[in-house]
Amino acid sequence: MNEEGIADLDYFVDLQPKKEDFHEAVLRGLSLPQKSISPKFFYDEKGSKIFDKICEAPEYYVTRTEIAILNDIKKEIYSVVEPGSVVVEYGCGSSIKIKALLSALPDPSHYIAIDISKSHLIATAKEIASDYLNISVGAICADFLEPIDWPEKASLKSSKRLAFFPGSTIGNQIPSEAGQFMKYVRHMVGDEGFFLVGVDLKKDIKILDRAYNDAAGFTADFNCNLLHRMKNELDAELNISNFSHNAFYNEVLGRVEMHLVSDIQQMIRIDDVDFSFEKGESIHTENSYKYSTKEFAELAKKSGFGLLKSWSDVENFFCIYLMKAI
Ligand code: AVJ
Repeated sequence: MNEEGIADLDYFVDLQPKKEDFHEAVLRGLSLPQKSISPKFFYDEKGSKIFDKICEAPEYYVTRTEIAILNDIKKEIYSVVEPGSVVVEYGCGSSIKIKALLSALPDPSHYIAIDISKSHLIATAKEIASDYLNISVGAICADFLEPIDWPEKASLKSSKRLAFFPGSTIGNQIPSEAGQFMKYVRHMVGDEGFFLVGVDLKKDIKILDRAYNDAAGFTADFNCNLLHRMKNELDAELNISNFSHNAFYNEVLGRVEMHLVSDIQQMIRIDDVDFSFEKGESIHTENSYKYSTKEFAELAKKSGFGLLKSWSDVENFFCIYLMKAI
């Protein structure tokens, strides 16, 4: 094996996901009637660090609440999932959550990490391999918004499979895409499979408002990082101080929207192309859908999953669902 560290892994499958490049995405996104850039571009090195700060902000309940629930329900998960299961994680976020899950399960046999970023994927898979010597580890470099087959090299074909998708990352997708994604998960885990997914609940608008407009300004920095990336990586001519962070709950669509709003009439120039902004015009940078349990269970059902159990915190901010293939 020539790639660094892959030797520690059972196998590494590279589906060579097409990574839309930032340059292309910005030129395309700024040409749309509602200018927009995908939230996946938030997470460069600096953006990932800012995101970690958001997770520690007192107003941003999401991460801390999910981890607390996960730690609370360990015993119950233990009793539902059978020994020797294979855990498939969609996107390697923080390893705190996968470690909490692996430690909660009865003798899991195999862990499969899936991520679009090869370096991040290998780092996470290696970390799990060295921390859990009884669990074999495989890695698939892929875009999980496309269908993925069960890796041939994952020998434990007959074991029960449990897909894990924490963080309410599913909230970034519009519901129809989230439904399509869950169909792919259903295909991956098979007829006996489970799906453990963390989803943010609908709640008091004031709580959402605060969570996405934290007092320290981390969320604003996170949003504005896209403008910094345009300047640094694309040589864009733009004045960052003429844009403002705006996050609000869209009640009709059930989602928090983030925008970068132009405070004045102005241009962003990239490659000699001018993108003009009216005062108040915005770049839409993220949707973060909030689901009631009923809504989420209905969406999952259309994708072939039945709700077995759900757990939330006392304030009903966040919910972890255990689904079973139907
Ligand atoms: C990582 C998509 C779950 O939607 O709450 C945090 C990202 N955006 N603050 C979310 C985010 C602004 C986060 N997710």
